[in-house]
Amino acid sequence: MIRSKIGGIGYYVPETVVTNDDLSKVMETSDEWIQERTGIRERRYGTKHKETTTSMGARAAEVAIQRAGISKEDVDFIIFATLSPDYYFPGCGVLLQRELGITHKEAAALDIRNQCSGFLYGLSIADQFVRSGMYKNVLLVGSEMHSMGLDFSTRGRNVTVIFGDGAGAVVVQPSEKEGQGILTTKLHSDGTYAEKLAFINPGAHGGYHLDKMEEEYDFGYDYDQKYGEIFITDKMLKDGQIFPNMEGQFVFKMAVQKFPEVINEALDEVGLSTKDIDMLIPHQANLRISQFVQKRLGLTDEQVWNNIQKFGNTTAASVPIAFCEAWEAGKIKEGDLVCLAAFGSGFTWGSALIRW
Ligand code: ACO
Repeated sequence: MIRSKIGGIGYYVPETVVTNDDLSKVMETSDEWIQERTGIRERRYGTKHKETTTSMGARAAEVAIQRAGISKEDVDFIIFATLSPDYYFPGCGVLLQRELGITHKEAAALDIRNQCSGFLYGLSIADQFVRSGMYKNVLLVGSEMHSMGLDFSTRGRNVTVIFGDGAGAVVVQPSEKEGQGILTTKLHSDGTYAEKLAFINPGAHGGYHLDKMEEEYDFGYDYDQKYGEIFITDKMLKDGQIFPNMEGQFVFKMAVQKFPEVINEALDEVGLSTKDIDMLIPHQANLRISQFVQKRLGLTDEQVWNNIQKFGNTTAASVPIAFCEAWEAGKIKEGDLVCLAAFGSGFTWGSALIRW
Protein backbone atom coordinates (compact mmCIF):
# COMPACT_ATOMS: atom_id res chain seq x y z
CA MET A 1 0.00 0.00 0.00
CA ILE A 2 1.44 3.39 -1.03
CA ARG A 3 1.33 6.04 1.70
CA SER A 4 1.46 9.74 0.84
CA LYS A 5 3.64 12.45 2.36
CA ILE A 6 4.04 16.19 2.15
CA GLY A 7 7.03 16.60 -0.14
CA GLY A 8 7.18 20.40 -0.08
CA ILE A 9 5.46 23.25 1.74
CA GLY A 10 5.32 27.01 1.22
CA TYR A 11 3.36 30.11 2.14
CA TYR A 12 2.90 33.67 1.04
CA VAL A 13 1.45 36.65 2.85
CA PRO A 14 1.06 40.09 1.23
CA GLU A 15 3.22 42.98 2.41
CA THR A 16 0.59 45.38 3.73
CA VAL A 17 0.17 45.10 7.50
CA VAL A 18 -3.17 46.32 8.88
CA THR A 19 -3.18 46.82 12.64
CA ASN A 20 -6.17 46.92 14.97
CA ASP A 21 -5.57 50.65 15.34
CA ASP A 22 -5.80 51.02 11.53
CA LEU A 23 -9.24 49.35 11.62
CA SER A 24 -10.39 51.53 14.49
CA LYS A 25 -9.91 54.54 12.17
CA VAL A 26 -12.65 53.28 9.80
CA MET A 27 -15.07 51.53 12.19
CA GLU A 28 -16.00 51.61 15.86
CA THR A 29 -13.64 49.07 17.37
CA SER A 30 -10.46 49.05 19.44
CA ASP A 31 -7.18 47.20 19.75
CA GLU A 32 -8.20 46.20 23.26
CA TRP A 33 -11.55 44.65 22.16
CA ILE A 34 -10.01 42.72 19.27
CA GLN A 35 -7.01 41.40 21.22
CA GLU A 36 -9.09 40.41 24.23
CA ARG A 37 -11.72 38.51 22.17
CA THR A 38 -9.54 37.05 19.39
CA GLY A 39 -5.83 37.48 20.19
CA ILE A 40 -5.34 39.23 16.83
CA ARG A 41 -2.92 42.19 16.73
CA GLU A 42 -2.63 42.65 12.97
CA ARG A 43 -3.35 41.00 9.62
CA ARG A 44 -2.16 41.35 6.02
CA TYR A 45 -4.15 42.69 3.05
CA GLY A 46 -3.34 41.98 -0.58
CA THR A 47 -2.69 44.81 -3.01
CA LYS A 48 -5.63 45.85 -5.20
CA HIS A 49 -5.08 45.37 -8.95
CA LYS A 50 -1.83 43.50 -8.26
CA GLU A 51 -2.79 40.49 -6.16
CA THR A 52 -5.65 38.02 -6.03
CA THR A 53 -6.48 34.77 -4.30
CA THR A 54 -5.00 33.00 -7.33
CA SER A 55 -1.80 35.03 -7.54
CA MET A 56 -1.08 34.66 -3.82
CA GLY A 57 -1.77 30.93 -4.11
CA ALA A 58 0.67 30.77 -7.03
CA ARG A 59 3.44 32.42 -4.95
CA ALA A 60 2.95 29.86 -2.14
CA ALA A 61 2.77 27.02 -4.69
CA GLU A 62 6.08 28.02 -6.30
CA VAL A 63 7.83 27.65 -2.94
CA ALA A 64 6.16 24.28 -2.23
CA ILE A 65 7.03 22.96 -5.71
CA GLN A 66 10.66 24.02 -5.41
CA ARG A 67 10.97 22.46 -1.94
CA ALA A 68 9.40 19.24 -3.22
CA GLY A 69 12.27 19.00 -5.70
CA ILE A 70 10.00 18.89 -8.75
CA SER A 71 9.25 21.26 -11.58
CA LYS A 72 5.84 22.75 -12.43
CA GLU A 73 5.43 20.30 -15.30
CA ASP A 74 5.56 17.43 -12.80
CA VAL A 75 2.35 18.60 -11.09
CA ASP A 76 -0.37 16.26 -12.32
CA PHE A 77 -3.30 17.44 -10.19
CA ILE A 78 -4.21 20.78 -8.58
CA ILE A 79 -6.62 21.19 -5.68
CA PHE A 80 -7.56 24.77 -4.80
CA ALA A 81 -9.43 25.57 -1.58
CA THR A 82 -10.88 29.04 -1.05
CA LEU A 83 -14.05 30.92 -0.11
CA SER A 84 -12.86 34.13 -1.77
CA PRO A 85 -12.30 33.10 -5.40
CA ASP A 86 -11.24 35.59 -8.09
CA TYR A 87 -14.36 34.74 -10.11
CA TYR A 88 -17.74 33.19 -9.29
CA PHE A 89 -16.67 30.73 -12.01
CA PRO A 90 -14.37 29.33 -13.29
CA GLY A 91 -12.57 28.47 -10.07
CA CYS A 92 -9.08 29.42 -8.95
CA GLY A 93 -7.70 25.95 -9.80
CA VAL A 94 -7.56 26.61 -13.54
CA LEU A 95 -6.48 30.24 -13.01
CA LEU A 96 -3.56 29.01 -10.92
CA GLN A 97 -2.77 26.42 -13.56
CA ARG A 98 -2.58 29.22 -16.14
CA GLU A 99 -0.54 31.49 -13.87
CA LEU A 100 2.01 28.75 -13.17
CA GLY A 101 2.05 27.56 -16.79
CA ILE A 102 1.13 23.97 -15.97
CA THR A 103 0.13 23.28 -19.54
CA HIS A 104 0.84 19.57 -20.10
CA LYS A 105 -2.16 17.65 -21.33
CA GLU A 106 -2.56 15.27 -18.35
CA ALA A 107 -2.96 18.12 -15.83
CA ALA A 108 -6.30 18.61 -14.06
CA ALA A 109 -7.64 21.07 -11.48
CA LEU A 110 -10.31 20.79 -8.80
CA ASP A 111 -11.84 23.59 -6.72
CA ILE A 112 -13.21 22.88 -3.29
CA ARG A 113 -15.18 25.23 -1.08
CA ASN A 114 -15.03 23.90 2.43
CA GLN A 115 -14.10 27.22 3.97
CA CYS A 116 -11.95 26.91 7.13
CA SER A 117 -11.71 23.12 6.66
CA GLY A 118 -10.82 23.48 2.97
CA PHE A 119 -7.17 22.55 3.45
CA LEU A 120 -8.03 19.44 5.51
CA TYR A 121 -10.57 18.31 2.93
CA GLY A 122 -8.05 18.98 0.16
CA LEU A 123 -5.35 17.04 1.99
CA SER A 124 -7.65 14.06 2.36
CA ILE A 125 -8.51 14.13 -1.37
CA ALA A 126 -4.82 14.43 -2.30
CA ASP A 127 -3.97 11.55 0.04
CA GLN A 128 -6.56 9.27 -1.58
CA PHE A 129 -5.36 10.09 -5.11
CA VAL A 130 -1.71 9.45 -4.26
CA ARG A 131 -2.48 6.26 -2.32
CA SER A 132 -4.54 4.89 -5.17
CA GLY A 133 -1.63 5.51 -7.54
CA MET A 134 -3.68 7.82 -9.75
CA TYR A 135 -1.42 10.88 -9.24
CA LYS A 136 2.20 11.37 -8.11
CA ASN A 137 2.45 15.12 -7.45
CA VAL A 138 -0.73 16.73 -6.18
CA LEU A 139 -0.46 20.48 -5.60
CA LEU A 140 -2.82 21.56 -2.83
CA VAL A 141 -3.36 25.30 -2.31
CA GLY A 142 -5.38 27.19 0.29
CA SER A 143 -5.63 30.92 -0.40
CA GLU A 144 -7.87 33.81 0.60
CA MET A 145 -8.27 37.45 -0.38
CA HIS A 146 -10.82 38.31 2.30
CA SER A 147 -10.08 42.03 2.25
CA MET A 148 -11.93 42.42 -1.07
CA GLY A 149 -15.23 41.22 0.40
CA LEU A 150 -15.52 42.57 3.94
CA ASP A 151 -17.78 45.27 5.34
CA PHE A 152 -15.50 48.05 6.58
CA SER A 153 -18.30 49.95 8.29
CA THR A 154 -19.15 49.46 11.98
CA ARG A 155 -22.01 47.19 10.84
CA GLY A 156 -19.51 44.50 9.80
CA ARG A 157 -17.01 44.83 12.63
CA ASN A 158 -17.72 41.49 14.35
CA VAL A 159 -16.55 39.68 11.18
CA THR A 160 -14.15 42.10 9.52
CA VAL A 161 -11.65 42.41 12.38
CA ILE A 162 -11.06 38.64 12.36
CA PHE A 163 -10.01 37.99 8.77
CA GLY A 164 -6.77 38.45 6.84
CA ASP A 165 -5.29 37.56 3.44
CA GLY A 166 -2.67 34.95 2.60
CA ALA A 167 -1.91 31.61 0.99
CA GLY A 168 -0.31 28.27 1.79
CA ALA A 169 0.51 25.28 -0.39
CA VAL A 170 1.84 21.73 -0.22
CA VAL A 171 2.87 19.07 -2.73
CA VAL A 172 1.57 15.63 -1.78
CA GLN A 173 3.66 12.74 -3.14
CA PRO A 174 4.16 9.02 -2.52
CA SER A 175 6.27 8.38 0.57
CA GLU A 176 9.36 6.20 0.22
CA LYS A 177 10.06 5.71 3.92
CA GLU A 178 8.28 3.09 6.00
CA GLY A 179 6.00 4.73 8.57
CA GLN A 180 6.46 8.26 7.18
CA GLY A 181 3.65 10.40 5.78
CA ILE A 182 -0.07 10.96 6.25
CA LEU A 183 -1.32 8.40 8.78
CA THR A 184 -4.99 9.31 8.61
CA THR A 185 -7.46 12.05 7.74
CA LYS A 186 -10.92 12.50 9.30
CA LEU A 187 -13.66 14.62 7.72
CA HIS A 188 -17.09 15.63 8.98
CA SER A 189 -19.90 18.02 8.17
CA ASP A 190 -23.35 18.99 9.41
CA GLY A 191 -25.40 21.42 7.35
CA THR A 192 -28.01 22.04 10.03
CA TYR A 193 -26.51 25.41 10.89
CA ALA A 194 -25.28 26.42 7.44
CA GLU A 195 -26.41 30.05 7.78
CA LYS A 196 -24.75 30.67 11.17
CA LEU A 197 -21.51 31.48 9.39
CA ALA A 198 -22.21 32.24 5.76
CA PHE A 199 -21.79 34.50 2.76
CA ILE A 200 -25.24 34.16 1.19
CA ASN A 201 -25.53 36.88 -1.45
CA PRO A 202 -25.16 37.04 -4.36
CA GLY A 203 -26.49 33.54 -4.84
CA ALA A 204 -29.05 31.52 -6.76
CA HIS A 205 -31.06 30.53 -3.66
CA GLY A 206 -34.06 32.63 -4.70
CA GLY A 207 -35.32 32.59 -1.12
CA TYR A 208 -35.78 28.80 -1.06
CA HIS A 209 -34.05 28.17 2.25
CA LEU A 210 -35.93 30.99 3.94
CA ASP A 211 -39.06 28.87 4.42
CA LYS A 212 -37.08 25.94 5.78
CA MET A 213 -35.41 27.70 8.67
CA GLU A 214 -36.72 28.50 12.10
CA GLU A 215 -35.07 31.91 12.26
CA GLU A 216 -36.19 34.80 10.12
CA TYR A 217 -33.46 35.71 7.67
CA ASP A 218 -33.77 38.70 5.40
CA PHE A 219 -32.33 37.56 2.10
CA GLY A 220 -32.59 41.01 0.62
CA TYR A 221 -35.23 40.85 -2.13
CA ASP A 222 -38.96 40.99 -2.71
CA TYR A 223 -40.98 37.98 -3.88
CA ASP A 224 -42.42 39.92 -6.81
CA GLN A 225 -38.99 40.62 -8.32
CA LYS A 226 -38.15 38.82 -11.56
CA TYR A 227 -35.62 35.99 -11.88
CA GLY A 228 -32.73 38.07 -13.15
CA GLU A 229 -33.36 40.75 -10.53
CA ILE A 230 -33.01 38.58 -7.43
CA PHE A 231 -29.42 37.40 -7.83
CA ILE A 232 -28.13 40.73 -6.59
CA THR A 233 -30.49 43.52 -5.58
CA ASP A 234 -30.20 47.17 -4.64
CA LYS A 235 -31.36 46.26 -1.15
CA MET A 236 -28.55 43.74 -0.74
CA LEU A 237 -26.04 46.42 -1.65
CA LYS A 238 -27.62 49.11 0.51
CA ASP A 239 -28.08 46.94 3.59
CA GLY A 240 -24.71 45.21 3.39
CA GLN A 241 -26.24 41.78 2.71
CA ILE A 242 -23.44 40.98 0.29
CA PHE A 243 -20.97 40.42 3.12
CA PRO A 244 -20.23 37.42 5.36
CA ASN A 245 -22.33 37.07 8.49
CA MET A 246 -21.53 35.13 11.61
CA GLU A 247 -23.18 34.30 14.92
CA GLY A 248 -19.90 34.41 16.76
CA GLN A 249 -20.87 32.86 20.07
CA PHE A 250 -22.68 29.96 18.42
CA VAL A 251 -19.68 29.25 16.18
CA PHE A 252 -17.35 29.45 19.18
CA LYS A 253 -19.35 26.85 21.14
CA MET A 254 -19.44 24.42 18.20
CA ALA A 255 -15.75 24.87 17.44
CA VAL A 256 -14.49 24.11 20.95
CA GLN A 257 -16.57 20.92 20.94
CA LYS A 258 -15.62 19.63 17.46
CA PHE A 259 -11.86 20.34 17.52
CA PRO A 260 -11.05 17.96 20.42
CA GLU A 261 -13.54 15.37 19.12
CA VAL A 262 -12.04 15.09 15.65
CA ILE A 263 -8.44 15.14 16.96
CA ASN A 264 -9.18 12.30 19.39
CA GLU A 265 -10.97 10.37 16.64
CA ALA A 266 -7.83 10.44 14.46
CA LEU A 267 -5.55 9.53 17.38
CA ASP A 268 -7.79 6.61 18.38
CA GLU A 269 -7.76 5.25 14.86
CA VAL A 270 -3.98 4.96 14.72
CA GLY A 271 -3.59 3.89 18.36
CA LEU A 272 -1.92 7.08 19.60
CA SER A 273 -2.83 9.64 22.27
CA THR A 274 -2.52 13.38 22.78
CA LYS A 275 0.82 12.95 24.55
CA ASP A 276 2.26 11.56 21.28
CA ILE A 277 1.53 14.85 19.44
CA ASP A 278 4.71 16.83 18.82
CA MET A 279 2.94 19.71 17.08
CA LEU A 280 -0.75 20.58 16.84
CA ILE A 281 -1.53 23.05 14.06
CA PRO A 282 -5.11 24.20 14.59
CA HIS A 283 -6.97 26.31 12.06
CA GLN A 284 -6.35 29.86 13.26
CA ALA A 285 -9.99 30.75 13.94
CA ASN A 286 -9.53 32.65 17.13
CA LEU A 287 -6.72 32.43 19.72
CA ARG A 288 -9.31 31.79 22.45
CA ILE A 289 -10.57 28.73 20.57
CA SER A 290 -7.01 27.36 20.20
CA GLN A 291 -6.28 27.99 23.88
CA PHE A 292 -9.47 26.21 24.88
CA VAL A 293 -8.61 23.20 22.69
CA GLN A 294 -5.04 23.12 24.02
CA LYS A 295 -6.31 23.05 27.59
CA ARG A 296 -8.95 20.43 26.85
CA LEU A 297 -6.33 18.13 25.29
CA GLY A 298 -3.76 18.82 28.02
CA LEU A 299 -1.10 20.08 25.58
CA THR A 300 1.77 22.43 26.44
CA ASP A 301 2.50 25.75 24.69
CA GLU A 302 5.36 24.01 22.81
CA GLN A 303 2.94 21.48 21.32
CA VAL A 304 0.62 24.05 19.70
CA TRP A 305 1.45 26.55 16.93
CA ASN A 306 -0.46 29.84 16.86
CA ASN A 307 0.15 32.75 14.50
CA ILE A 308 -3.29 34.37 14.36
CA GLN A 309 -1.79 37.26 16.35
CA LYS A 310 -0.02 38.54 13.21
CA PHE A 311 -2.05 37.12 10.31
CA GLY A 312 -5.65 37.00 11.58
CA ASN A 313 -7.91 34.20 10.36
CA THR A 314 -6.99 33.30 6.78
CA THR A 315 -9.59 30.50 6.44
CA ALA A 316 -8.38 27.85 3.93
CA ALA A 317 -4.84 29.27 4.08
CA SER A 318 -4.46 29.29 7.84
CA VAL A 319 -3.41 25.66 8.40
CA PRO A 320 -0.76 25.53 5.63
CA ILE A 321 0.63 28.98 6.59
CA ALA A 322 0.96 27.95 10.25
CA PHE A 323 2.30 24.51 9.26
CA CYS A 324 4.97 26.04 7.03
CA GLU A 325 5.92 28.66 9.60
CA ALA A 326 6.36 26.01 12.30
CA TRP A 327 8.48 23.90 9.95
CA GLU A 328 10.63 26.87 8.89
CA ALA A 329 11.16 27.70 12.57
CA GLY A 330 12.63 24.21 13.06
CA LYS A 331 9.79 23.10 15.31
CA ILE A 332 8.87 20.09 13.15
CA LYS A 333 11.60 17.47 12.77
CA GLU A 334 11.83 14.14 11.03
CA GLY A 335 9.77 11.52 12.86
CA ASP A 336 7.59 14.09 14.65
CA LEU A 337 3.84 13.52 14.88
CA VAL A 338 2.03 16.55 13.46
CA CYS A 339 -1.70 16.96 13.98
CA LEU A 340 -3.72 19.34 11.79
CA ALA A 341 -7.30 20.25 12.69
CA ALA A 342 -9.93 22.67 11.46
CA PHE A 343 -13.53 23.71 12.01
CA GLY A 344 -15.57 26.22 10.06
CA SER A 345 -18.56 27.28 8.05
CA GLY A 346 -20.90 24.52 6.88
CA PHE A 347 -20.32 23.39 9.53
CA THR A 348 -17.39 21.31 8.32
CA TRP A 349 -14.49 20.01 10.36
CA GLY A 350 -11.61 17.61 10.04
CA SER A 351 -8.20 16.44 11.25
CA ALA A 352 -5.06 14.80 9.90
CA LEU A 353 -2.12 13.01 11.52
CA ILE A 354 1.23 13.16 9.75
CA ARG A 355 4.47 11.38 10.66
CA TRP A 356 6.99 13.93 9.37
N1 ACO B 1 -15.24 45.93 18.12
C1 ACO B 1 -15.94 46.38 19.15
N2 ACO B 1 -17.12 45.86 19.54
C2 ACO B 1 -17.60 44.83 18.82
C3 ACO B 1 -16.91 44.30 17.72
C4 ACO B 1 -15.69 44.89 17.37
N3 ACO B 1 -14.94 44.47 16.34
N4 ACO B 1 -17.62 43.28 17.21
C5 ACO B 1 -18.72 43.17 17.96
N5 ACO B 1 -18.73 44.10 18.94
C6 ACO B 1 -19.71 44.35 19.97
C7 ACO B 1 -21.08 43.87 19.60
O1 ACO B 1 -21.77 44.82 18.85
C8 ACO B 1 -21.70 43.62 20.95
O2 ACO B 1 -22.12 44.85 21.45
P1 ACO B 1 -23.48 44.97 22.34
O3 ACO B 1 -23.22 44.11 23.53
O4 ACO B 1 -23.55 46.41 22.61
O5 ACO B 1 -24.55 44.42 21.45
C9 ACO B 1 -20.52 43.16 21.82
O6 ACO B 1 -19.34 43.60 21.13
C10 ACO B 1 -20.46 41.66 22.01
O7 ACO B 1 -20.67 41.05 20.71
P2 ACO B 1 -20.56 39.52 20.52
O8 ACO B 1 -20.71 39.18 19.06
O9 ACO B 1 -21.46 38.84 21.50
O10 ACO B 1 -19.05 39.33 20.94
P3 ACO B 1 -18.30 38.04 21.39
O11 ACO B 1 -17.83 38.22 22.77
O12 ACO B 1 -19.06 36.80 21.06
O13 ACO B 1 -17.03 38.09 20.44
C11 ACO B 1 -16.28 36.99 18.46
C12 ACO B 1 -17.19 38.05 19.05
C13 ACO B 1 -14.85 37.42 18.68
C14 ACO B 1 -16.56 36.89 16.98
C15 ACO B 1 -16.55 35.67 19.16
O14 ACO B 1 -17.91 35.37 19.22
C16 ACO B 1 -15.83 34.54 18.52
O15 ACO B 1 -14.63 34.47 18.54
N6 ACO B 1 -16.57 33.60 17.99
C17 ACO B 1 -15.96 32.46 17.33
C18 ACO B 1 -16.12 32.60 15.91
C19 ACO B 1 -14.83 32.70 15.21
O16 ACO B 1 -13.76 32.59 15.70
N7 ACO B 1 -15.00 32.87 13.96
C20 ACO B 1 -13.89 32.93 13.12
C21 ACO B 1 -14.32 32.52 11.81
S1 ACO B 1 -15.04 30.98 11.84
C22 ACO B 1 -13.90 29.93 11.96
O17 ACO B 1 -12.84 30.16 11.45
C23 ACO B 1 -14.20 28.74 12.75
